[in-house]
Amino acid sequence: MEINNKKIEVLFSNKDIIQRVKEIALELNKKYNGEEVYAICVLKGAVMFATELVKHIESPLKMEFIRLSSYLGGTNTTGKVNAVDIALPDLNHKNVLIIEDIVDTGLTAKFLTDFIKLNFKTKSTVFVSLLDKKITRKVDIEPDFYGFEIDDKFVVGYGLDYDGYYRNLDYVGYLSK
Ligand code: IMP
Ligand code: MG
Repeated sequence: MEINNKKIEVLFSNKDIIQRVKEIALELNKKYNGEEVYAICVLKGAVMFATELVKHIESPLKMEFIRLSSYLGGTNTTGKVNAVDIALPDLNHKNVLIIEDIVDTGLTAKFLTDFIKLNFKTKSTVFVSLLDKKITRKVDIEPDFYGFEIDDKFVVGYGLDYDGYYRNLDYVGYLSK
């Protein structure tokens, strides 16, 4: 498919993603066993994944949204995480589920898990990411659950963007020239 003169190769179709999301939800349902969950969606990238995932969670659930940024429009991480809007309710003694789009260097995941640890004594904290680029990791952190592992390719779609575009694609693909 061609969008904005860039070719996009499909990596994971909408069907693949939903299938995998259901599998992750099954694991989470086992873990939570009907207990209340605070799902924290990391904007903007995780929005599609988070909204799909929560549909399959069988627990009383509240959704929170926080916004961080590390990219400044390009395809390379700036190496610094900026907290743009991180207002959260009291998460002490709660089951916290952090929902991300992708773990790349791991800086965002580390920043977030440290932030939660520093500010709250949660009942549990689980970090789930749709994608995991294990090969580009710079800090020692792994998501508790992830949808798919990918290689060092810049991907877009299903919430992930390039310069703000492509978040609306219902699949994940990579940009090829
Ligand atoms: P990290 O802090 O380096 O792990 O990067 C995490 C953030 O960078 C993610 O939440 C994404 O918003 C963004 N990111 C990393 N890799 C990609 C990619 O391939 N496509 C789009 N965004 C990406
Ligand atoms: Mg992100």
